Amino acid sequence: MENKDIKLINEDGTRIDGRRPDELRPIRMKVGLLERADGSAYLEWGGNKILAAVYGPREMYPKHQQDPARAVVRARYSMAPFSVDERKRPGPDRRSVELSMVISNALSAAVLTEEFPRTVIDVFIEVLQADAGTRIAGLTAASLALADAGIPMRDLVVGCTAGKIEGVVVLDLNKEEDNYGEADVPLGILPRTGEIVLFQMDGMMTEEELCTALDMAYNAAMEIHRMQVKALKDVYMKEAEEGGE
Ligand code: CDP
Repeated sequence: MENKDIKLINEDGTRIDGRRPDELRPIRMKVGLLERADGSAYLEWGGNKILAAVYGPREMYPKHQQDPARAVVRARYSMAPFSVDERKRPGPDRRSVELSMVISNALSAAVLTEEFPRTVIDVFIEVLQADAGTRIAGLTAASLALADAGIPMRDLVVGCTAGKIEGVVVLDLNKEEDNYGEADVPLGILPRTGEIVLFQMDGMMTEEELCTALDMAYNAAMEIHRMQVKALKDVYMKEAEEGGE
């Protein structure tokens, strides 16, 4: 949706929230805060507040849904009624079914699913507060929760969005930019190899703009990956130190 009355880029080239085009919103993450889940993570990204919890791997029921060769990674993305401006009707809708699917696919590409045939790994993503980019923030939190559950993965998955507003390629769109900008491209990246495990696009960009957007997203993915590693180390190094006393 474009709106000519709303100015998204300031005279000095900064954005309405003061960020440079290639600057992320503030991100905070914490691992392992739920006792009853096998793994969990909480993430704040801009105004997004997201909790992810993992159960499994455990035997898949009903049996006809089992995959004899690998585990099924089943993510469920859900928005709390109070997470958005207009109360969200509880329960799945078309959007959350789509997001659950793309997140499941992205996580499946990272998890070593062949190590756990016939099982299911459930990943619950609860959006407590939404502020644009919830799918990529949810994906980032989910991969941390999987790591916390001790599930072997080829790599952590990093979510990130790039896009275009008023002709400028920018990183990590906020709510106004998402609503009134020209394009947004949510991405899931495996930072070690640079593989893309989630790629969607809303709006139009030229090939050159898309290349710039991908470059920005890759650089940001490295930065977010460092935060993920730190969040994991904060818990596990501390536990190791305490255990060693
Ligand atoms: O959240 P994400 O950017 O991955 O998905 P979106 O469908 O592009 O939604 C963008 C934003 O719109 C969300 O993050 C919410 O802030 C908002 N939204 C909303 O206010 N009400 C909804 N029912 C769905 C989304």
